[in-house]
Order: sequence, then C-alpha cells, then structure tokens
Amino acid sequence: MRVDKKTLHELIANKMHKAGLTKEHADVAADVLTFADLRGIHSHGAVRVEYYSERIAKGGITHNPNVTFNETGPSSAILDFDNGCGLVAAKIGMDKAIEMAKKNGVAVVGVRRMSHSGSLGYFTEMAAENDLIAFSVCQSDPMVVPYGGAEEFFGTNPIAFAAPTADDRIVSFDMATTVQAWGKVLYARSKGEPIPSTWAVDENGEPTTDPHKVNALLPISGPKGYGLMMMVDIFSGILLGLPFGKHVSSMYADLSKGRELGHLHIVINPAFFIGLEPFKHAMSAMLNELKEVKPAKGNAEVYYPGERGKAREAAYLKDGIEIVDDIYNYLVSDDIHYNRYDHKNKFAE
Ligand code: NAI
Repeated sequence: MRVDKKTLHELIANKMHKAGLTKEHADVAADVLTFADLRGIHSHGAVRVEYYSERIAKGGITHNPNVTFNETGPSSAILDFDNGCGLVAAKIGMDKAIEMAKKNGVAVVGVRRMSHSGSLGYFTEMAAENDLIAFSVCQSDPMVVPYGGAEEFFGTNPIAFAAPTADDRIVSFDMATTVQAWGKVLYARSKGEPIPSTWAVDENGEPTTDPHKVNALLPISGPKGYGLMMMVDIFSGILLGLPFGKHVSSMYADLSKGRELGHLHIVINPAFFIGLEPFKHAMSAMLNELKEVKPAKGNAEVYYPGERGKAREAAYLKDGIEIVDDIYNYLVSDDIHYNRYDHKNKFAE
C-alpha cells in the first residue's frame, strides 16, 4: 500500500516513542527511517521499526542516554552515546563533524556505544547539503564469510560517501560491503520472495535462494570486499576501543543489552583544498560528462550514485511511499511485540 511521507514519519515516531524513546529521539529516528523508504531503500526503513521497538522496550536501546562528546584535537572527536539509538547517535555525530570541518577543514568523529544506525546515506548527505564531502562507515554484526572461510566473521560493514555539486544534484554512494545488505534478505522474507543465489550461503556454506535458509552472506568481489569490510571494522571498531569481528554483538541476541557498536564520520571541507566553487563546478562537470557516456546494451542511460534514489523519492512524494501491508498494519496498531525478535540465535524470523 501507499502512505504519504508525513503519515509514515508520524507512525514511526509514535511507535518508537511508545516503545520508550524520548519524543526528540523518536522524531530523529523517524527522519532517518523515512529517508530510507523514500529513497527506495526499504531494507532500512519502516521494516525495522518492530525490531527497534522491541529492543527499546526491553532496554537494549537506552531511552535517555548519558551522552558525552570529547574533542580530542582540532579535527578529531569521540561521541559516546551510552547505547542510545544509533540512528540518533550517527546524526548527532555528523552534526558535530560538520561544525568541526566548517571551521578546521577536516573532521574525524567517532561515534561509540550505539545501536544500529540504519541507512548511512542519510548522514553523508547531511554534509553534502552543507557543501562538504563526507565518508561514513559503521560496524554491523558478524554474518559474512571472510574470503576463503566457511563461517561468518565480519558484518555487512557499510561504506557511504556524498559530495555536493554546483547544481541541485548530490553524489550519494552508499553500500554494504556484502553482495547485498542483510536488510534485503529481511525484506525478501517479508515479501515471501526468493533471493539470487549470489547473495548468501546456507548452513553448509552452499549458495541458497531461500531467504529463510541464509546462514551467512558473501562479501562483494571476494577478497576485495573482504578487505573493505575489515577496513570498516578497524575504523569504526578497533579505533574507537570497541569489540571487533566475531566479538561484535548480534542484532538478535539478548535485546535487553546495549549493542556497543561504532560508527565513524570523516568530513572534508573543499574550501580548504581546491576551493568550494571550483570543487562544485568540477563535480557538476563530472556528472554532466557521465550522463553523456554511451549506454551499454540494455541500459537506458548511465546513472551517477544516488540519482535513481532521488528519482524514486520524487515519485514517492507525488504518489505516496510503497509500504508492505504487514508493516503498515503493525505501525497503525497499538502493539509493541516482546518476543518476535529476541530469539537468542543469529538471525531472527
Ligand atoms: P545498493 O546495492 O542498493 O546500492 C549501492 C550503491 O550503488 C548506491 O549508492 C546506489 O546509488 C548505487 N547504485 C545502484 N544501482 C546503480 C546504478 N544502476 N547506477 C549507478 N549507481 C547505482 O545498496 P546496499 O548495499 O543494498 O545497501 C543498502 C543500505 O543498507 C545502505 O543505505 C547502507 O548504508 C545500509 N546498511 C546499513 C548497515 C548498518 O549496519 N547500519 C549495514 C549494511 C547496510
């Protein structure tokens, strides 16, 4: 079914507030989740609210965290979020990084001790809207086989990048370092659809098309994706004094405990390098030239990263956002479920 942006935002915010988040945090969380659905990243939108709400209600996401912000140098800082909502933690971390990069040219802000932070493009685009370049990475729970391995070690450890142009376009690249994000498997489950055999393996390490049989995901491009997910874990885990690799907490194990996850934002101010206007003009020129590249057979045109998401957003703003009926029914109900996700095993239903 289709829901307008304002209604979806209100439904999500109300549910997460009812589960126990402060009104302020629930509103920010709803911003990040609505952004994901608007861009067509349904794996990281409203589909997650039921899980987040259970974790909030059980205390595994701190309702009113005791937040500390420590500026460790002119361009570096650590935000400790006391295991509060990761969607809010990453947003506040980016607010701080933007402020610091505007003043000092570069900012590296680590966000430690938070819960799951959703779709990273939301945070990197905040910087691009402020004429800054951003790079964000975060930890995710172990569910990916390392190259050559038969059991999971790293998470789907995403990487996002965004940059402004001289016009209203923003380059927004945002990906999991796995062939597909775990949320895409969840979304396939919610729709009762099979997945491609290249995404994941079953308990015997064999490729599977059944989203319910997934035991571990595969990294993108073998050893290259494996190297990238390791880099993400070093930046957002080891660098911030947090558990790494197999020690990162599982999304579905003991929802009453804080997840202790890490996130890192790097923000660069082009004004301190080539200069803001020359940078933005070169960016626009690059996109213009990309749009002139002859499309390969079967492709209507070449897209720049983020272009298709923006087009989806425009269509959804006009016609309403597409939401799975079960998710909508949950959002409009009075329910907070207490035993849907807390299975104490690797992956929830
Ligand atoms: P995806 O595979 O849908 O897209 C990856 C990138 O490729 C995007 O930047 C997209 O704009 C670009 N792209 C796709 N098709 C394109 C085309 N035809 N031409 C040009 N560019 C194209 O993304 P993925 O890997 O499924 O990730 C989905 C979301 O999951 C992301 O928002 C990510 O941040 C989030 N995520 C969050 C995690 C967390 O723990 N917080 C863990 C893993 C993923």
